[in-house]
Amino acid sequence: MTSSNFTEQLAQAVKETERIVCSYLPEEKGFQKTIFESMNYSVKAGGKRIRPLFMREVYRLFGGNGAEIEPFMAAIEMIHTSSLVHDDLPCMDNDELRRGRPTTWKTYGEDMAVLAGDALMVYAFETAAKAFQMGADAARAGRAIGLLAEKTGIYGMIGGQTVDVELTGKPVPREQLSFIYRLKTSALLEAAMMIGALLGGADERQMAAVEQMAADVGMAFQIQDDILDVTSTQETLGKPVLSDEKNEKTTYVTLEGLEKARETVREVSRRALSTLKTLPGEHTFLEELIRLLAGRDR
Ligand code: IPE
Ligand code: IPE
Ligand code: MG
Ligand code: MG
Ligand code: MG
Repeated sequence: MTSSNFTEQLAQAVKETERIVCSYLPEEKGFQKTIFESMNYSVKAGGKRIRPLFMREVYRLFGGNGAEIEPFMAAIEMIHTSSLVHDDLPCMDNDELRRGRPTTWKTYGEDMAVLAGDALMVYAFETAAKAFQMGADAARAGRAIGLLAEKTGIYGMIGGQTVDVELTGKPVPREQLSFIYRLKTSALLEAAMMIGALLGGADERQMAAVEQMAADVGMAFQIQDDILDVTSTQETLGKPVLSDEKNEKTTYVTLEGLEKARETVREVSRRALSTLKTLPGEHTFLEELIRLLAGRDR
């Protein structure tokens, strides 16, 4: 694939993902209208949509070609967005800009932002359950919903955010920091790619390889996020820079320095790419995507 081909293909894939995610959002009407508006506000603000993108690509890698993947694509983006809405709250990272707009709590108030995050998280499961009416294999869809819950909850993203918050302002050894990243960031990428693999028909050995690859993609992704927090601008990122310093967070940048952190992103991404090579199917697009994220500027 030439690089201009990849750029076009990526733009097309993001557009389709956008359409799918938005098609599952609730209508903004009724007495509880504010909850619909505040949920949709943060999802519609945009974002790179990498989790649903990876989900569908891995699904296709294993031969999946149905519509059953679509409610899961919407669900993972809702869960990810809910994590951002809560992450920005004054009691968490206390940030005021997200995806180029004032954060949900700045626009709707803290009370509504708490509810919007909760609502997105639960509505994600309501949405994923729609796969049962779309011809999905019931056993696989059931397991996929279980995976989504596990990787979102106490053994996944929420577990990671817990340790992240608790260790704010304290020195964190590398081992603990990599535990935090595996949970707060890798877990949702693991859910995305494992659900794609599962619904596409991967076997257990392949599921384990996909989990490992996603863990590495997530680790590289979060370290790059730390790097951008100190090297980028608010205009490019659509969120504040120097948020980690403000919150006295230990990150890979504070731990290893910028150059070493960059090297770690490359090394962990290379490991993800070598795991990808063990999987069947056509993986040029995934390869390019992993490379792009390692060098991304937002
Ligand atoms: C931000 O995620 C939070 C992290 C896990 C680093 P993204 O960088 O995927 O945010 P959006 O979805 O593009 O806004
Ligand atoms: C958050 O990490 C990861 C989540 C689970 C939301 P950060 O706090 O570094 O994410 P940003 O930089 O605010 O997007
Ligand atoms: Mg945070
Ligand atoms: Mg944050
Ligand atoms: Mg960050």
